[in-house]
Amino acid sequence: MKVVVTLLLLLTFAACTTQLYVPTTANVSKHEAATLAELQQGHDLYSSKCGRCHSLKKPSSRTAAQWTKILEKMGPKAKLSKDQTALVYKYVVNY
Ligand code: HEC
Repeated sequence: MKVVVTLLLLLTFAACTTQLYVPTTANVSKHEAATLAELQQGHDLYSSKCGRCHSLKKPSSRTAAQWTKILEKMGPKAKLSKDQTALVYKYVVNY
């Protein structure tokens, strides 16, 4: 029984985390200019600051134009600086 519960927990955990892509060189400047270091910082900011009030939306679920508008609103909500918001933008548009 314990094994089953552990497996279920692991599966649930995997399902929640695999939604967010981890940046690799393949994502560098895929849609918008960005370095790998910027994408990694954006990924860390996004996963640590943007899931406090709601679930993390899939980067591919919005267009770059939509993300621009959304981040104008959400950056201040997440108390991010302009530079940090720009990093999150680079992350979400280079999926
Ligand atoms: C303080 C709470 C809070 C934080 C932190 C926050 N959000 Fe939100 N978010 C909301 C609320 C409330 C809504 C729904 C109402 C709205 O659109 O303003 C929302 C809606 C959204 C939506 C859907 C809007 C749409 O038009 O599709 C997206 C995408 C989103 N947030 C992304 C983010 C991102 C990215 C961050 C990090 C920079 C973030 N949120 C941080 C409260 C928050």
